[in-house]
Amino acid sequence: MTRLLITGASGLLGISLALEALREYEVIGTDRGKLKSAPFQVLRADLMEKNAIASILDSAQPDWLINCAALANLDECEKYPDRARILNSELPGELANVCAKKGIRFVHLSTDAVFDGEKAAIYTEEDQPNPLGVYSQTKLEGERAVQEANPKAIIARVNFFGWSLSGTHSLGEFFVNNLGAGQPVNGFTDVIFCPIFVNYTARLLVAMLEKGLCGLYHVVGAQPMSKYQFGLEIAHKFGLRESLISPKSVLSSGLTARRSHNLRLSTHKLSTDLGREIPRFSTGLDEFYTQYQQGYPQKIRSYQQEAYEKPA
Ligand SMILES: NC(=O)c1ccc[n+]([C@@H]2O[C@H](COP(=O)([O-])OP(=O)(O)OC[C@H]3O[C@@H](n4cnc5c(N)ncnc54)[C@H](OP(=O)(O)O)[C@@H]3O)[C@@H](O)[C@H]2O)c1
Repeated sequence: MTRLLITGASGLLGISLALEALREYEVIGTDRGKLKSAPFQVLRADLMEKNAIASILDSAQPDWLINCAALANLDECEKYPDRARILNSELPGELANVCAKKGIRFVHLSTDAVFDGEKAAIYTEEDQPNPLGVYSQTKLEGERAVQEANPKAIIARVNFFGWSLSGTHSLGEFFVNNLGAGQPVNGFTDVIFCPIFVNYTARLLVAMLEKGLCGLYHVVGAQPMSKYQFGLEIAHKFGLRESLISPKSVLSSGLTARRSHNLRLSTHKLSTDLGREIPRFSTGLDEFYTQYQQGYPQKIRSYQQEAYEKPA
């Protein structure tokens, strides 16, 4: 059976990917002590520590490695740029290099935010990135390090929503939690993105590996929308009050890191090379809601240690 190693298995994508892949593959995940009683093997590793990569590869002996570990919070990256550089730029290059030497298929996760959002039309993989902040700069450096070390690697620029271990990580959870509690929230009308249900991201990544793809891909949803519109879609699906969402500009948000306004990314290359359509936003939203009805958020939260404190 193919052995799949997932770094950052406690993250939003990592946990969903592990649970999806478990159906067909032997899954081994790495975490920093957050996971308990997950239904797959977990190796504890701080990937910023020396010898961590060698140690997890020796233990897991994987055929495939998907790197979901990152410093993925934009504002934390502005606050801790050195940490962002190690995790988002250097680590991916080191993983890509070792995987190339050992014949392990490697997938690295990047971001739609490598673009500055100034282009009026949709971005393709051919467009020049121009990152606006520490997060996106370090993610772009990570892409380049991976490309150089391992041209056979897959680099996937993503953006997704779903249920996380903490219950508060994704934009989908933000709207469900706040609107469910009757709390008014802002929805940005001037940030356009292409959200996709995280379980679909997971399935697409596995399909890309199965198909033997390599290189740079946009692995996002095929329907662009503003963050405000996304909130309205969530409210409508979950039967929550749309009027609690105020349409606002991101410029009035007070967020530290600059955000790109247009992150419309083309999925043409992905759907052509996979030979299939990217699932529709509405289908993903339906599944997100079905999971909610079936108690999936509570199920995955039960995989988190109760007294877990994130390492500094
Ligand atoms: N969320 C999105 O919509 C989105 C959008 C664009 C790109 N991406 C990219 O997609 C990937 C996954 O994102 P995500 O939202 O799933 O991120 P996430 O939930 O923040 O997960 C990040 C993972 O990295 C782990 N990690 C952090 N520091 C580590 C260290 N020193 N050693 C080992 N592991 C460490 C975290 O472990 P702990 O749980 O212990 O902190 C966690 O498992 C990232 O590359 C991100 O940049 C995500």
